[in-house]
Amino acid sequence: MLQTAAAFVFRLAPSLKRNLWRSWYQDLARRFDFGDWVFMNYGFAAAGSAARPRHLDPEDEQDRYCIQLYDHVLGDTDLRELDVLEVGCGRGGGASFISRYRRPRSMTGVDLSSANIAFCRRRHTLAELRFMPGDAESLPFADNAFDAVVNVESSHCYPSMARFLAEVRRVLRPHGYFFFADLRGTGDVATLRQELEASGLTWQREESITWNVLEALRLDSQRKRALIRERLPWLWRGVLRAFAGIQGTSIYESFRLRHAEYLCCVLRKASAPV
Ligand SMILES: C[S@@+](CC[C@H](N)C(=O)[O-])C[C@H]1O[C@@H](n2cnc3c(N)ncnc32)[C@H](O)[C@@H]1O
Repeated sequence: MLQTAAAFVFRLAPSLKRNLWRSWYQDLARRFDFGDWVFMNYGFAAAGSAARPRHLDPEDEQDRYCIQLYDHVLGDTDLRELDVLEVGCGRGGGASFISRYRRPRSMTGVDLSSANIAFCRRRHTLAELRFMPGDAESLPFADNAFDAVVNVESSHCYPSMARFLAEVRRVLRPHGYFFFADLRGTGDVATLRQELEASGLTWQREESITWNVLEALRLDSQRKRALIRERLPWLWRGVLRAFAGIQGTSIYESFRLRHAEYLCCVLRKASAPV
């Protein structure tokens, strides 16, 4: 049953898939304009590791797990002097984090939902940070415009991963980085690897972070549950608990039972055309 639900979400017909996700995120942004809701990923926790957590400003502590997902994907790559693009920036928390803590030369966030972009422009007002509406499969930028593309928990919404990856390669400068993290139904992970393999980008790092994501969901469940209860009309609470992956909901169980996997990869564009 869970497996069927996961497979359904990941294998919708292409045009239906784009429109469905756009409507969902447009609706969320229009209905729930909470200024302190700036992330929409499942998070990352260093399960069983003694690694010291990154220092965060007090106002960012509530988003620690979501921020740790970005931090983990980026690793210790120095982003200073780089022009960075995030595709699927959502409510802009990740782009703002990268801009403030990793100090790239410029940071651009793109999202399919114009309502998300309107929210981001109101909420995150840093000089080096800009937001634009755009589709991952047809990015509104010139060739060779960025040194790094970041893509966190968004690609499962795209009708064609191959078209997205062709766009990543097009907008990246030679030696540019592609930082990627997302989930797939377990049966679709091999396809994702083949798509990444066929992208013409070169692998730098790949790992499954399913247990880390599950641990973050577990650790953050109580806080999310309370927020949903306090702020949302009752009609929306069940849907949002499932969307947030709270303990016991279907996505949480999909990770726990390994019906879904979460991958983290870094790839690079070669110096010369391949
Ligand atoms: C789960 S949210 C993740 C947002 C953000 N990366 C984060 O971690 O908070 C997925 C985002 O991908 C965006 N998205 C979905 N399809 C897209 C597409 N074809 N092009 C660009 N963005 C897309 C959605 O609008 C949504 O904001």
